[in-house]
Amino acid sequence: MKTLVVFYSRTGTTKKVAEKLAENLSAESEEIIDTLDRSGIMGYLYSGRDAMRRRLAKIKAPQKNPADFDLVIIGTPIWAWNVSAPVRTYLTQQREKLPQVAFFCTMGGSGYKKVFREMYKIIRKKPIAVLSLTERDVAGNTETFKGKLNSFSKKIQG
Ligand SMILES: Cc1cc2nc3c(=O)[nH]c(=O)nc-3n(C[C@H](O)[C@H](O)[C@H](O)COP(=O)(O)O)c2cc1C
Repeated sequence: MKTLVVFYSRTGTTKKVAEKLAENLSAESEEIIDTLDRSGIMGYLYSGRDAMRRRLAKIKAPQKNPADFDLVIIGTPIWAWNVSAPVRTYLTQQREKLPQVAFFCTMGGSGYKKVFREMYKIIRKKPIAVLSLTERDVAGNTETFKGKLNSFSKKIQG
């Protein structure tokens, strides 16, 4: 199955998960690049506000066409109990081109159910698998992280 892992990551946690997934599944990957600098405390504040208001971001045009894949796995950090603005933008812009999908998110600790519901609402496609991880599990490379990653990968591989 030709698979693409698409993700946005402000501080590296979601990127780390995306890289592991791409490796496990021999998938290609695409990082969503936001043209707005979201670093630092001001970046944190803009990001929370954008997510809460469901605002779209200005992202760079993707390099890969999702329609060329059998499955696209989409990963987002949770912002203010919502999907991050760059991932909301990607989903909105690419929804017609998306094949089968799976979702993953990273978070401090809460909000993943709402985020997956929100991602579904944007593209109206049910994910074949979902994965939620805390930043602590990802940073610590814990057994929980490895276990969840494996079961997600297995589910995808059928
Ligand atoms: C603006 C903002 C809002 C956040 N809101 C939440 C939240 O509602 N729930 C939560 O569990 N974590 C929240 N977090 C924490 C991030 O989801 C978490 O640190 C994530 O792993 C960061 O991923 P990244 O390093 O790929 O950017 C928030 C982070 C930011 C920047």
